[in-house]
Amino acid sequence: MTVPIPQDQSLSDPLAATAMPVSAPIATESTPVLPIDHEASVTPIVTTEETKTPGVILGLTGRPLPTFSAPKPLSSHGPAYIIAMTNQKGGVGKTTTTINLGAALAEAGRKVLMVDMDPQGSLSIGLGVNPDDLGGKRTVYDMLMDSSSVPASDVVMKTSVPGLDLLPANIQLSAAELRLAGEVAREYALDRAFESVRPLYDYILIDCQPSLGLLTVNALTAADGVVIPMECEFFALRGVEMLRETITKVQERLNNRLTIDGVLPTMVDARTLHTRETIQAVLDAFGDSVFHTTISRTVKFPETTKAGVSIIEQAPNSSGAQNYRNLAWELVSRLEAQGSVAK
Ligand SMILES: Nc1ncnc2c1ncn2[C@@H]1O[C@H](COP(=O)(O)OP(=O)(O)O)[C@@H](O)[C@H]1O
Ligand SMILES: [Mg+2]
Repeated sequence: MTVPIPQDQSLSDPLAATAMPVSAPIATESTPVLPIDHEASVTPIVTTEETKTPGVILGLTGRPLPTFSAPKPLSSHGPAYIIAMTNQKGGVGKTTTTINLGAALAEAGRKVLMVDMDPQGSLSIGLGVNPDDLGGKRTVYDMLMDSSSVPASDVVMKTSVPGLDLLPANIQLSAAELRLAGEVAREYALDRAFESVRPLYDYILIDCQPSLGLLTVNALTAADGVVIPMECEFFALRGVEMLRETITKVQERLNNRLTIDGVLPTMVDARTLHTRETIQAVLDAFGDSVFHTTISRTVKFPETTKAGVSIIEQAPNSSGAQNYRNLAWELVSRLEAQGSVAK
C-alpha cells in the first residue's frame, strides 16, 4: 500500500527533493475502549514469553529496555553539539521537544542554546517570550542576514532556567528565505552565525519550521545531528522518504558530518493497538535509530506551552517531565558512546 505525495512540502525546497511514495503503517483500528487517562505513565511491557528471559522488560518499542542514568557533571563547557529538530509535518512535537529536551539537558548541568528557526515564533512563545514585542532586541532574522554586524551574542536571551538560553524569532524570519535565496553560500548563513556561540554551549537545539525549505536546510547544514519527532498516528510516516532524501542531499553536498541522532515517538498512548502498530512501522523504517524513550500524550504539554515554561519546571514529577528527562539521558549516553560529546 502506498500513500500519495505529501501536500505540506514547501514549494521553495531548495534541494528540490523528489517525492517517493512510502509504505504506510498497517491500517488497523485503534482500541478506544478505555477513556484516555492523560496522565498515564509509559509503563514498560513486561513479557517473559517473547524474550524467554524471565523479568526482561520490553519497552514500548518492543526492544529490551535499557535504563539510563543522569549524565555525569561536566568539568568544562563547549564546543556545542548541534541538533536540528526536524520533521516537515506540523504538530508532531518539534517545539515541545526542543523546549523540554533543552530544559532536561540544562537540569543535567549542560549549557543549552535553543534557536527559533520558525517564523511562527512558537519556541519563543513557549518559553514565555512575546516575539512581537522584544523591545528593539535583535532576532534570528537579523543574525542570518548579517552575522558579522549582528552576532548571535547580541540576539541571545536568558530564560527562566539557568543554563538555558534562547535565540528568538518572529514573523520577520519568513522574509529570510527570499532574501537569502540570492546570496552566495545561502545554506551556510546559520552555520556562520553559530561560530561565535558554539564554544560557549554544550548543546544547541534548533527548532525547525514545518517545511524542508531554505531555513530548514540552513539548520541541517549547521547541525551535527537530526532528531525527528514523530506523532504516533496513522500518517506518521507520510513524507518521511522526502525528509530522508533531504538529509542525504545535505550530507552529500553541504555537511558530511550530519547524522540522524534519533527518531522520537511522541503523543504515545501506550494502551492503544494503533500506537503500538505505528511505533512498529517507525521501527521498520528507522531501525535502531528510534529512541527507546517515547513521549506519552498528556494535556500537561498544551498547558505548559500556554504558561510559557517547560514541563520540567512546571510539573517536574509528571510522566511528561520524566519522559523528557529520560530522553535527555538516553541522548547523552548515545552521543557519549559514539564519542560525539565529551564525557
Ligand atoms: N506528548 C504530547 N501530548 C499532548 N500534546 C502534545 C504533546 N506534545 C506536543 N503536544 C501539543 O501538540 C501541539 C503541537 O506540538 P508542537 O510541539 O508545537 O509541534 P510542532 O512544533 O512539530 O508543530 C501543541 O499544542 C503541543 O502542546
Ligand atoms: Mg513548532
